[in-house]
Amino acid sequence: MGLQLTSEEREMLEGKHGKATKKAMDLIVNLGEIYGAERLIPISSVQIAGVSYHNLGEAGLEYLSDMAVDGKARVLTTLNPAGMDLEEWKKHGISEDFALNQQRVVDAFAKMGVITTCTCTPYLIGNLPHYGEHIAWAESSAVCYSNSVIGALTNREGGPSALAASLTGRTAEYGFHLQENRIAEVKYEIKTELKHTDDFGLLGQVIGERTRKKIPYITGIPQATTEELKSFCASIATYGGIAIFHMEGITPNRTDIPEDTEIVTQEDLNQARVTMDDKDAEIDFISIGCPHASIKEISQIAEMLKGKEVVEGKTVWITTARPTKDLAKKMGYYDTIEKAGAFLVSDACCAVAPLKGRFKGLMTDSAKACFYARGKNDFKTEIRTIEECIREATA
Ligand code: F3S
Repeated sequence: MGLQLTSEEREMLEGKHGKATKKAMDLIVNLGEIYGAERLIPISSVQIAGVSYHNLGEAGLEYLSDMAVDGKARVLTTLNPAGMDLEEWKKHGISEDFALNQQRVVDAFAKMGVITTCTCTPYLIGNLPHYGEHIAWAESSAVCYSNSVIGALTNREGGPSALAASLTGRTAEYGFHLQENRIAEVKYEIKTELKHTDDFGLLGQVIGERTRKKIPYITGIPQATTEELKSFCASIATYGGIAIFHMEGITPNRTDIPEDTEIVTQEDLNQARVTMDDKDAEIDFISIGCPHASIKEISQIAEMLKGKEVVEGKTVWITTARPTKDLAKKMGYYDTIEKAGAFLVSDACCAVAPLKGRFKGLMTDSAKACFYARGKNDFKTEIRTIEECIREATA
């Protein structure tokens, strides 16, 4: 039948809504044709990834500047982490050159009416779609959280396609926008207790690597907090490319329950931990907040750091969204954390900031952070609970 467009969509394609909108619609239509979509659908929320100048470079910045000449966001749109804290970058050791270029990237997005919050947990700071809503999000951990935990429907967008969705207010109807592609395919029974965010990250690695893109249905987890689920989403998306899962009694989507069942034991989690722990890691960097820390996590970390001091030779980053940092300031958590010698870093994270060569070993509670610390920054890694990370920083 081919891709059918409404008259407004055809006008966008013909350039009647400006050059950037035309380019954006070209991209959406191309994707729709490649994936066999029959129509475009309106979306209500966008999350754009690819914001760090470290990843974008000059070519990416040029593309954005070009789109910003007449492009305007049509729906609520937020940004993924940038390569630095947009206000306190100097004290985190970011160069003037990098800061200047990073600011140009953020300015280009701001010109298009994008909310420049720079976080991978937009759902914690107001970009929170509801169940059944069609959205277009990039950032694999947030995509997985949205599809699975919230029950909003999104494909795993790239930076350009998410921007195109924002400028047109549309996405092509294929993939996870269709109910038939959201059904569980393999069941995992968890036969061990998960106590902390790091355990959920380890579980994400185990299921992610085993399931190989099949949609998992997970049983045996009696409850999970928002923080544990965001850790799990980040990990299962990183290690398995998973964009949706079902967790019995916890996530809201309806699905058939697969018969094929795999068991996950404590031994499996132990094995996963071994793969993330480098024996010869010399820990000089501790980073918590991958995905970005919630205000609850920050309050707990502040409590742990009360009256303590980060030891010489170690650097601590707690990464979060700017609105959460502002709240942490208001509540006194920021002062407690910074007084102890740790940094509450907003807008950025340990994976997209230009940190290569600055540290040798990362300790974190995040399985995803381990993956990127090794792959992008050549750091050795150790995964621990948040409490153990803080103990390592202050011992
Ligand atoms: Fe977010 Fe950076 Fe981790 S984008 S999920 S904090 S790698």
